[in-house]
Amino acid sequence: MADLSVNFAGIRSPNPFWVASGPPANTAYQAHRAFAAGWGGVVWKTIGDPIVNVSSRYSALNITGARMLGFNNIELISDRSVETNFREIAEVKKRWPNHAVIASLMVETRAQWHEFVRRATDAGADGVELNFGCPHGMCERGMGSAVGQQPAVTEKIVSWAREVATIPIIVKLTPNITDITSAARAARAGGADAISLINTLSSITQVDLDTLVPEPNVGGASSHGGYCGPAVKPIALNMVQACAADPTVGLPISGIGGIGTWRDAAEFLALGATSVQVCTAIMHHGFRIVEDMLEGLQAYLDSKGMTRVGDLTGRAVPTVRKWETLNLNYRRVARIDYDRCIGCNLCHIACEDGAHQCIDLVAPEGRGTGPGRLPGKPIPQVREADCVGCNLCSLVCPVEDCITMITQDPGVPEMSWTDYQEKLARGEMPPIPPHP
Ligand SMILES: Cc1cc2nc3c(=O)[nH]c(=O)nc-3n(C[C@H](O)[C@H](O)[C@H](O)COP(=O)(O)O)c2cc1C
Repeated sequence: MADLSVNFAGIRSPNPFWVASGPPANTAYQAHRAFAAGWGGVVWKTIGDPIVNVSSRYSALNITGARMLGFNNIELISDRSVETNFREIAEVKKRWPNHAVIASLMVETRAQWHEFVRRATDAGADGVELNFGCPHGMCERGMGSAVGQQPAVTEKIVSWAREVATIPIIVKLTPNITDITSAARAARAGGADAISLINTLSSITQVDLDTLVPEPNVGGASSHGGYCGPAVKPIALNMVQACAADPTVGLPISGIGGIGTWRDAAEFLALGATSVQVCTAIMHHGFRIVEDMLEGLQAYLDSKGMTRVGDLTGRAVPTVRKWETLNLNYRRVARIDYDRCIGCNLCHIACEDGAHQCIDLVAPEGRGTGPGRLPGKPIPQVREADCVGCNLCSLVCPVEDCITMITQDPGVPEMSWTDYQEKLARGEMPPIPPHP
C-alpha cells in the first residue's frame, strides 16, 4: 500500500490532507476532532490582535443540484485571545505529536511579527503560515491581501519573520493578483520555505432583490467578501501549476481552493502540490469527508503503482504548455452512443446556436434504443467531417458517457503553431484559408 505520509518543507504529516485556516481550525476542540477523523494537519485560524466580527458573515452561490457551489465570507481573523490560541496549539501538539500543527499569523509591525513567530515556536507549532491573502477587512488595515498584492512588501515582511524563525515559514498567497508567480518569487526572496495557495477571491455572490442589499446582509449593508469552495478550484489549480512550473519559484506548495474529494486533492498534487488544505468542504460536510479522501487517494496511488504521495506530486505540470506548442493536427470528434441517447437534443441546440453547426437532427429509426425517445421525434447526428472537436456537446449532454470524444488519426505529422509560422515563412505552407 502506498505511503501517504508527506514531508512538506520539513513539516511531517501522516497524510497530505490538512484543515485550512478558517472556522474548522479555530479551537483545540476542533483540532482534536479533525485529527481523530484522520486529517494529517491543521493550519490554525489566523492569529493576530483579536478582532470583532459582524453578523451575518456568509453567503453562497447555489445552483440547481449544487448548494454552496461557491461560498463567500466577510469574517476576519481569530476573535479569540492570542494567549488562548497559543495555549491551545501547545495542548494539541502535545496530544498529537506526529500530526502537523501550523500557526497562521497576521500582524503589522516588525516587532509584532518577531513576537508572534516566537510565540508560535514556543507553543510547539511545526511551522507558521503568514496570511497575506485575506481580501476583506484586514486589507483595509494594511494587512492580508494588501501585503500579498505588493511583492516588495511581501518580501520585507517574510524577511522579518525569517529573522527569528527556527521553524518553516509558509507564505499564503492571495489570488487577487495578476501574476501569482511574482508574489511567490517575493516570498522566496524574503526567505520563505514554502507557499500555500489560494486564499479567497474578492467577491459579491448575490443581491437580495427585495432589499436590494447584497448578502451577507449586515444591518442593511454588505461588503466585498472572500470567495471559495468548488467554484474556485479551477483558479486555484491554474495558480498552483503556474508556481510549480516556474523554476524561479522553486518552493514546496500546499494547494488550497475548492477541494472536497480525493480526486480534487489528487489533481492539486499532480499539478505540483505536496500537501492540500480544505476549508469550505469541511464547513459543508464535516471532518469525516477525510475518510473517503484517504481511502480514495490510497486506492488511486496503488492502482497507478505509485508507492508514495511524492510520486504523484507534479506529474501533470509539464503537460501544461504554451498554446503555440500544441499540435494543430491533433483531431478529436464527438460520437453519440445511441443506446444511451434520450433524444433531448441539447447537444444539437448547443452546437447549432453556440458552437460550430455540425450536429444535425435525423430520424430516430435504426439508431439504437436509448431510453425516453419518441418514435418519429428527431435525434442528433454528428457530421464528423465538420466536427472541430470542441467538446461542447459532450459537456452539455445530461447522460453519462452518451457523447464521447474520439481521437482520430489525422494522417499527417504533428505541427504546432510555431512550426506552422516557420513553414509559412519558408514558403512551405499555404496560408490558412478563412473559415467559410
Ligand atoms: C469563513 C472563512 C474564514 C476563513 N478564514 C481564514 C483565516 O482566518 N485565515 C486564512 O489564511 N484563510 C482563511 N480562510 C480561507 C481558507 O483557508 C481557504 O484559503 C479558502 O477558503 C479556499 O479554500 P476552500 O475552497 O477549501 O474553502 C477562510 C475561509 C472561510 C470560508
